[in-house]
Amino acid sequence: MTSSLISARNAPAKATAHNAKASTEFGAKLAETEALLRRAAAEFQPVSQASSLGAEDVVITHLINRLQLAIPVFVLETGALHTETLALLERTQAHSRSPVQVFRPVQASVIQFVRERGQDAIYQSIALRKACCSIRKMEPLARALKGHKAWITGLRQEQSNARAEVPLFDTSEEAAKNLAKFNPLAKWTWGDVWHYIATNQVDYNPLHDQFFPSIGCAPCTRAISLGEAFRAGRWWWEDEAAKECGLHVKK
Ligand code: ADX
Ligand code: SF4
Repeated sequence: MTSSLISARNAPAKATAHNAKASTEFGAKLAETEALLRRAAAEFQPVSQASSLGAEDVVITHLINRLQLAIPVFVLETGALHTETLALLERTQAHSRSPVQVFRPVQASVIQFVRERGQDAIYQSIALRKACCSIRKMEPLARALKGHKAWITGLRQEQSNARAEVPLFDTSEEAAKNLAKFNPLAKWTWGDVWHYIATNQVDYNPLHDQFFPSIGCAPCTRAISLGEAFRAGRWWWEDEAAKECGLHVKK
């Protein structure tokens, strides 16, 4: 057997082959998404895209670059991301037209948390898990959004029951802080996302080829099995209701 045959057989199935399937309204949804991104850039400066480098977010960054919009991208590099995600971050920084900024947690807070609570604290209680998210994600997010009029996320209605009502444009949540949120893929299906990735040959996180549909920090993300819910691999030891890190929780 030749080595190329061996590697072909051992190679993981491509997420594009599995998932790419445009819905019938894909053209209209894409036009709506592009119009929304243009509006964000024109009317809501300063505005940034929050990217976890997951499938939805690489689509949005690709659109921002293709449309040549003045929308920078930021990544919350929690210090607990997979090596695959960090490698994609480097490639994105090298190839993106829009600047890609990285926000990291305050090291002293991370060290203190681990010293006082231990390496496995996040699995012990929801409160401790949320405390970790607060240090590694929420505080850096507040820094990333300081002075902003709006931010752009990859939230989709299909992702979970809790997200079923996610609007394309949200001013409800942070009205007091004058921070609007654009969710330009709110109506896209998973098939739409992968159709865009496949047709535009967008670089993506190879963990998606290993059945990680939703990717967060390494200690809190696992692959899912056939039939499991989209976010079943996130904080899998917790109840469904608790499964948000706070980035998108309404106060
Ligand atoms: S989470 O709240 O459960 O972590 P999820 O992983 O589904 O969120 O991502 C939803 C959206 O939140 C992403 O499309 C992205 O806009 C933003 N987001 C999540 N994680 C990050 C991150 N590490 N850096 C920047 N944005 C992020
Ligand atoms: Fe900490 Fe897990 Fe939250 Fe990442 S997702 S910040 S590792 S608790």
